[in-house]
Amino acid sequence: AAAAQLAGGQLPAAVQQSNESAVLTILYGSQTGNAKTVASKIKAAAEQQGISVKLTDIGSYKTTQLAKEKYLLIVTSTYGEGEPPESAVAFHKFLFSKKAPKLDGLQFAVLGLGDTSYEFFCKTAIDFDEQLAALGGKRLHARADLDVDYAAQAASWTETAVQAFAPELKQSAGNSAQVIAWPGATAGHDSAYSKETPYLAELSVNQKITGRDSTKDVRHIEISLADSGIVYQPGDSLGVYFLNDDQVVDAILAATGLNGATEVQLAGQTYSLKTALTEQLELTQSYPSFVEKYAQATANTELLELVKDKTALRQYLDNRQTLDVILQNPAPLAAQQLVDALRKQQPRLYSIASSQAEVGDEVHLTLGVVRYDAFGSTHLGGASGFLAERLEEGAALKVFVEHNDNFRLPDHETPVIMIGPGTGIAPFRAFLQERDQAGATGQNWLFFGNPHFTQDFLYQVELQDYLKRGVLSKLDVAFSRDQAQKVYVQDKLRLKAEEIWTWLQQGAYLYICGDGNKMAKDVHQALLDIAQQQAGFSAEEAEQYFDDLRQAKRYQKDVY
Ligand code: 2AM
Repeated sequence: AAAAQLAGGQLPAAVQQSNESAVLTILYGSQTGNAKTVASKIKAAAEQQGISVKLTDIGSYKTTQLAKEKYLLIVTSTYGEGEPPESAVAFHKFLFSKKAPKLDGLQFAVLGLGDTSYEFFCKTAIDFDEQLAALGGKRLHARADLDVDYAAQAASWTETAVQAFAPELKQSAGNSAQVIAWPGATAGHDSAYSKETPYLAELSVNQKITGRDSTKDVRHIEISLADSGIVYQPGDSLGVYFLNDDQVVDAILAATGLNGATEVQLAGQTYSLKTALTEQLELTQSYPSFVEKYAQATANTELLELVKDKTALRQYLDNRQTLDVILQNPAPLAAQQLVDALRKQQPRLYSIASSQAEVGDEVHLTLGVVRYDAFGSTHLGGASGFLAERLEEGAALKVFVEHNDNFRLPDHETPVIMIGPGTGIAPFRAFLQERDQAGATGQNWLFFGNPHFTQDFLYQVELQDYLKRGVLSKLDVAFSRDQAQKVYVQDKLRLKAEEIWTWLQQGAYLYICGDGNKMAKDVHQALLDIAQQQAGFSAEEAEQYFDDLRQAKRYQKDVY
């Protein structure tokens, strides 16, 4: 139709708009929201240059579209052992499959977000970048691989990448090439509060819900959002900022001989060293870049030797927090050097364990406290230690909601199967509250696991009440250490293979939340086995079945 209209001489604006070749497609693969935020900012910057942009979650992208793309920009994070975020798994698979098309007509650029404390830093971005080129695409701008402190580099990459696309894509010549502003706010935010501008909430409940003899310390946390107007949905996460332990900060000051009152600069602002260490910097996680910078600043020959060997360095950091590196290598350095060596604190995300339909202006979390003994002292996780041990009930903390459209309940009639061992129960408590309040008729089946029935049956009373009232149709529990042989949720799934398969045939949605390193993979394998056994599928057919399920949003994961 467009070609026919060309005969008239002038191309109508509407046709120009819909001309696919003149659109920049931006895809984001995001798990914790960072890649999504950066992609939205790139979109805004490109639009300022008169480029028309189509921004899409890579999880919702139709891979059949790829062969038709002319201009593509991908922002993706990487997780665990170099794995794509859950929403990018299907696209990643497709790109490396026989179905991947020739991309001779494509011009592209890739931006990676990652964490240098992981071995396979930005692996997914590297994969995309190399494979798009291998399929014939032309790289219009070099990839950048950014660490958790990505903001400044993301801004400059955006500027040069948009400039690279602009000559090809500019719609109107009237838009002069000014310096591209890095827009401060994310488009489409539905609350005044965000990662950049968190809400000052109040801790109202901190209750230990594992028994006194448990190997775990799990807390039920309730936070008041009062009249913030913050809205969240089951499946969303809560971002939490925290304060580091005063004793740890004092020990670091002592080990370095520094005065906490010394003024330091951080991201363009002035702080006292003590405040920067307490509120702004990462002391509990460990990361190679700190060791490198600290070794140099303190001229520590042993550490300088260690950082040359990446494998040895990773091993050294295995059970060490950053604070251990300092306390075990006390040495003088300038306050500003210390600050420059440390990473800026990243808020921790927790899956929300409540539904606003039930709890109104509260938000609940199921918090696993990170606590272990090493080098003669008890080590606590940064945020979990703060929430569980240092923050008094009634005190304030900074929070924001991170929306997750890749973990959502279906309509009220559809049955759901939820697999959530340990603190993976959290979003399913939210699901059950939501469905209870809505009077949803869809059936709900929960698989839960933890070490011991008497110590670790999280939310036992609530779950049994849901069972009694029929909100929960089925509950299967795997208490792994209550018998000689370990029993896990995937074992319970296998025992119920026939019924699982019936539910799936009836359109059930499948959810997994919890440990992503082992549990989610083992559960996935159990599901593959069930499909093979119940449907007579081959291994490939079973894989395809769950790929299709994922594509149809019927198989969703929130794993960490
Ligand atoms: P374990 O600690 O006794 O081995 C929540 O952490 C529960 O998940 C615990 O009961 C834990 O058992 C169990 N778990 C550990 N590894 C698992 C795996 N690979 N798959 C499923 N559950 C696992």
